[in-house]
Amino acid sequence: MVIKVAINGYGTIGKRVADAVAAQTDMEIIGVTKTRPSFGCDLAVRKGYPLYCTYDSEEKISAFADAGYVCHGGLSGLLELADVVIDCSPGKVGADNKKKYQQAGVKWIFQGGEKHAMTGMSYTSCANHHENMNAEGTRVVSCNTTGLSRTLMPLYNHCGSLKVECTMIRRAADPGDSKKGPINAIKPVLKVPSHHGPDVKTVKPEIEINSMAVAVPTTIMHVHVIIATLPEGHGLTTESILSMWRDTPRVVLMNGAETGITTTAEVMEFARDIGRTWGDLHEIFVWDDGVKLEGNTLYYFQAIHQESDVIPENVDAIRALMGAEQDWRKSVAKTDAGIAASLGL
Ligand SMILES: NC(=O)c1ccc[n+]([C@@H]2O[C@H](COP(=O)([O-])OP(=O)(O)OC[C@H]3O[C@@H](n4cnc5c(N)ncnc54)[C@H](OP(=O)(O)O)[C@@H]3O)[C@@H](O)[C@H]2O)c1
Repeated sequence: MVIKVAINGYGTIGKRVADAVAAQTDMEIIGVTKTRPSFGCDLAVRKGYPLYCTYDSEEKISAFADAGYVCHGGLSGLLELADVVIDCSPGKVGADNKKKYQQAGVKWIFQGGEKHAMTGMSYTSCANHHENMNAEGTRVVSCNTTGLSRTLMPLYNHCGSLKVECTMIRRAADPGDSKKGPINAIKPVLKVPSHHGPDVKTVKPEIEINSMAVAVPTTIMHVHVIIATLPEGHGLTTESILSMWRDTPRVVLMNGAETGITTTAEVMEFARDIGRTWGDLHEIFVWDDGVKLEGNTLYYFQAIHQESDVIPENVDAIRALMGAEQDWRKSVAKTDAGIAASLGL
C-alpha cells in the first residue's frame, strides 16, 4: 500500500517534508496547501505537487486561478483523499486544524511549534517510535529537541539514567525570514528554564534535563552547549562515547582542528557540498575534539540545522502512525536511502 500524504502549510518545513515524502517508495504526495497565490506556489507546480487552498472559501480558491495557478480545491477536498496530513503551519494554529483532521478521519502530524498538550503525543524516531505505532496523530518535536534526543538517547540507553544541563544558542531567524531578530544583540530567553530541554521529556520522560537559551544574530544554525552527568559505574570513556555516536543514525562527528570546520559557517558549507536540496543537513553535527568526559561529567557542543533535522523524522513518524514499520532503525535507514536516491547521492 502506498500511503497518501497531504501537506498543510507549504513553507520552510512543508516544502522540505514534501520532497522527503515524495522520495519514498511507500508514500506519495497527493497535495500541498498555500493560503494564497504567493511565490511558493511556483515551486509546488514545478515539483508536480497538486496545489490546494488552505481554506475552503470559494473566493480564496478562485484567487489562485486569477493568478494563473491550477488550484484543485480547498483543504476539505484534499483531506478526503489523504491517509495522513502533515501540518506545517506556523505554530499555534494547530488546535483549529486538528479538529478539521479529526472530522475528516485522517491521521495528523504537527510540528514543534505546537504544544505537546495539544497533540497528546510527541515523536522522535530514536526515542519513541514504538509508542507512536498506530496512533491517531503526533507532533514531531522541534529542531532543538530532535537534536538533543539524537545524542542523549544512546547515552541514556547505555547508562539507564541521565541528568543534563544545556544552553541553547539559537539562530535569530531562518534565512528566508525578514521579520524576526535580533540583528545586533544577544537576547536571553528570560523564562527559565527554557522550554527546549524539558521538551525532551515529551519523548523520553526519564531523562532529567533543563535548559537556558539565548538568541543570537545568525540565521544558519543553532549550537547547543551540553553538560551531562552520567551515573556512577557508567563504564564509558570519551572515545567510547564518540564511537557510540558514530554508530548513531543522523549524527555526524568531525574534528574541528583536522577538518577546519570550526564554526557553523563551515558546517553549513560542508552541508552545501553534500548536495542535498537547499544545502540541508539532516544530521546533528558534533565536533569530536569538543567532547570530553571527566569522571561522571560529559561536556560537548553540537550544531543543529534548524530547517532540516526534523524533515526525515516526519517521514518516520508517518510510518509509525500508519503501522508500516515497527523498527525505528529500519525506518530511518529506508527514509535516508530514499532521500539520497532521489538526489542521486
Ligand atoms: N523553520 C524552522 O526552523 C523550524 C524548525 C523545526 C520546526 N519548525 C516548526 O514547523 C512549523 C512550520 O514552521 P515554518 O518555519 O515552516 O513556517 P513558515 O515558513 O512560516 O511556513 C508556514 C506555512 O504555513 C502556511 N499557513 C499559514 N497559516 C496556516 C493555517 N492556518 N493552516 C495551514 N497552513 C497555514 C503558510 O502559508 P502561505 O505561505 O501560503 O501563507 C506557510 O507556507 C512550526 O510549527 C515551526 O515551529 C520550524
